[in-house]
Amino acid sequence: MKIAKTITELKDFLGSVARDKTIGFVPTMGYLHEGHLSLIKDAHAHNDVIIVSIFVNPTQFAPGEDLDAYPRDFDRDAQLAESAGTDILFFPNAVEIYPNGSSTFVEVEGSITGKLCGQSRPTHFKGVTTVVNILFNLINPNNAYFGQKDAQQVAVIKKMVRDLHMTVTIVVCPIVREADGLALSSRNVFLNPEERSQALVLSQSLAEAKARYNLGETKVKILKEQIINLINTMPLAAIDYVDILDFETLEDIETITSPALAAVAVRFGNARLIDNIILD
Ligand code: PAJ
Repeated sequence: MKIAKTITELKDFLGSVARDKTIGFVPTMGYLHEGHLSLIKDAHAHNDVIIVSIFVNPTQFAPGEDLDAYPRDFDRDAQLAESAGTDILFFPNAVEIYPNGSSTFVEVEGSITGKLCGQSRPTHFKGVTTVVNILFNLINPNNAYFGQKDAQQVAVIKKMVRDLHMTVTIVVCPIVREADGLALSSRNVFLNPEERSQALVLSQSLAEAKARYNLGETKVKILKEQIINLINTMPLAAIDYVDILDFETLEDIETITSPALAAVAVRFGNARLIDNIILD
């Protein structure tokens, strides 16, 4: 595995890749876990050359969020990335990605960025789409891999790719969970044991809503209430949002008649956790 810390090094490595090879790209912020590795393995199975980036992107964190506290362990990440099949690991610093004077942003507007995490973190997706755009421009991948764990991020990036006529194919991989249901997240390290056990309510409340939907309940209000009530049984849980929206557009719905996304964000101490399930 080659490690590129600068754009020059990255371009050098990319220059040695034959033109007919397919490039699979997995953007990450590091502190890799099995969720990230599932993306890398999927990319490895379907592409000739696998590029993984590790960049804790400052523009997607608002002042006061956990940019400085975000967990980092480059040596461990490099080992894991290599064992999952990475060929080139891109590990730039912030000045490399945003040189002095950089002032161009890519922003997807509308309810797709205004709901859910976009409501509680209003500048977040502008940072995500800007950095993903920069990375796509630098790497020019055939396929880029994202996790359903960040369902809204997937919807926003797909919209950006469509709107800007980008040629990259976005591949979405399922949520990887611990055996007890907790969705893997780099932020799970912030949880103490009590918070960790109460955090199971995220996946449980979503699974129960899905079970009720499968039994025929299609009213969003009722399903949302059920999720909220269950989460509120946990004393350490502070709900950021619970919502059920149209799966593709993330617009409000009252009744589920086509695939819908049930999504939650809940704080436990210093950790803000998200999870979701598709009602289909
Ligand atoms: P990060 O949170 O590091 O996640 C990188 C990728 O791993 C994302 O596509 C995310 O959805 C996926 N992922 C995280 N946890 C997962 C899980 N439990 N199961 C499956 N996939 C999972 O998302 C970001 O970084 C950033 O916003 C980024 C796209 C890199 C832009 O900065």
